[in-house]
Amino acid sequence: MGDEGESVDMGQQQMAFDRSDTKTDAAPILCLDQVEVIYPNGTVALQPTTVDFEDGELTVLLGPSGAGKSTLLRTLNLLVRPTSGAVLSREIGTLDATQSIRAHRRDTAMIFQQHQLIGRMGAMHNVLLSRLGRHSFWRTLVGFSEEERRLALECLTRVGLFEKALTRCDSLSGGQQQRVGIARALAQEPKMILADEPVASLDPASSERVLNVLRSICKEDRIPVIVSLHQLDYAKAFADRIIGLAGGQIVFDGPPTQLSETVLTQIYGSTGQDAT
Ligand SMILES: Nc1ncnc2c1ncn2[C@@H]1O[C@H](COP(=O)(O)OP(=O)(O)OP(=O)(O)O)[C@@H](O)[C@H]1O
Ligand SMILES: [Mg+2]
Repeated sequence: MGDEGESVDMGQQQMAFDRSDTKTDAAPILCLDQVEVIYPNGTVALQPTTVDFEDGELTVLLGPSGAGKSTLLRTLNLLVRPTSGAVLSREIGTLDATQSIRAHRRDTAMIFQQHQLIGRMGAMHNVLLSRLGRHSFWRTLVGFSEEERRLALECLTRVGLFEKALTRCDSLSGGQQQRVGIARALAQEPKMILADEPVASLDPASSERVLNVLRSICKEDRIPVIVSLHQLDYAKAFADRIIGLAGGQIVFDGPPTQLSETVLTQIYGSTGQDAT
């Protein structure tokens, strides 16, 4: 499922996806099998979609506003439940029962545009909070172990914020806060990272730093990192693979080198206004 040569019927045009130069032999860590999302108000946000994700691959989701990027990302950790179709994890199997979804979410870190940190708490404390999902009730009462504190510091060091460990998050810059968000995601020891427009509110230098950090994690830890972006330049610079969405449908799936003007028109329409 979801192998090379997937095709999407684009009206008159039939488009074949060639991912042969980016795919590895490893089994995909996560697959969507004919996943469709229709919200309760009747909006078809994702048409039946089959796609898979592999370890160590940085995928960027591109597409105009409303294309379905957030919906696709959220189906990957079941924050949005498919109306039909299935989400399959290599380690857990079909993600349908509460227990399997909970286990999958523990292994899947999500980074948002708004950092969702607790401003009055220090960076390290915010990072440690991600460990609560792995604590038993009794451990939560006792507090964090020495080992967890060491892990939190290591995570802050990886995002270049060791010296800010004790600084309150509300006195950090937007880019630093986003990196605390990434450190918090790392402390979850995830097997996959999802990031929904993680650089939408950052200046170019901070954006590049954040994307560099995400790319390093993807490569060093050999985990899939899936990021939605509005900036085409960043997508081309940082992605191994780009998934282009339009109208709740994947209209392109391939390496940045195959992102031609024709493909961009398929994603963004003739104006290409979103492709900044
Ligand atoms: N909770 C919801 N209930 C109903 N419709 C929704 C809901 N969330 C999203 N939608 C609709 O689903 C479609 C896809 O939305 P989605 O948020 O996935 O797009 P997106 O590509 O992330 O857009 P953006 O770039 O603006 O973040 C849109 O038409 C949107 O209005
Ligand atoms: Mg979105």
